[in-house]
Amino acid sequence: MVNLIINGKNVKAREDTMVLEAARKAGFAIPTLCAHESVSRSGSCRLCVVEIKKGNRTRIVTSCLYPVEEGLVVETNTARVQNVRRLVLELLLARCPEADVLKKMAAEMGIESQPRFVADTDKGKCILCRSCVRVCEEVVGVSAIGLFARGSHKTVGTPFMEQSDVCIGCGACVYVCPTGHIEMTSTGDKRKIWGRTFKMQACEKCGKYFAPVDQLKYISKKTGVPVKEMATCMDCR
Ligand code: SF4
Ligand code: FES
Repeated sequence: MVNLIINGKNVKAREDTMVLEAARKAGFAIPTLCAHESVSRSGSCRLCVVEIKKGNRTRIVTSCLYPVEEGLVVETNTARVQNVRRLVLELLLARCPEADVLKKMAAEMGIESQPRFVADTDKGKCILCRSCVRVCEEVVGVSAIGLFARGSHKTVGTPFMEQSDVCIGCGACVYVCPTGHIEMTSTGDKRKIWGRTFKMQACEKCGKYFAPVDQLKYISKKTGVPVKEMATCMDCR
């Protein structure tokens, strides 16, 4: 365990903990967008900034990627921290003016309704945090999506924005996306995501469509469990 001071409070934390978790465990709220528990950290949204002090030096760091250390002094809500968070949020809002999660955070931080930056109209709600890409690669293991193009044209999607052969329609990307950018619709025995339509498996007991057939086939291939043994929904198992 290491000892650190967060907002004047003595805190103990395990050595492998990040400042974000140590602060939250001690009861201090820090806003985040890209730190999802299911995927590795990308440090891309920069909303989780805090101020740390070592000796006479203070600096701003991203708390989700900064490990705790003995004697570290952390402030989570100084004027400097608030200014950086406001600027970050204003830039994210200029990119994604329709993202409700950003609008809600802006209201909570008292950001003026008159934006300082010119708003984009073609980026949807994607803040380029890469959580969807990471879950597809790290958890699902298919790498169906990525970030493509450069600079202001960078966008998330399937390669060449064409239908992906490897996507299994699981929707894990939708689950981790903090802004609701990814569109997935499920109607009857069909699910649509990333431009592809997937056939859904009906539960053998209750008849409810519960998972794409391609997803069950993928799990079957990985685990050796026959697809027909997975044809029952979680509620009926
Ligand atoms: S689609 Fe969502 S999860 Fe993926 S990069 Fe954009 S904001 Fe992040
Ligand atoms: S939550 Fe730390 S950079 Fe996004």
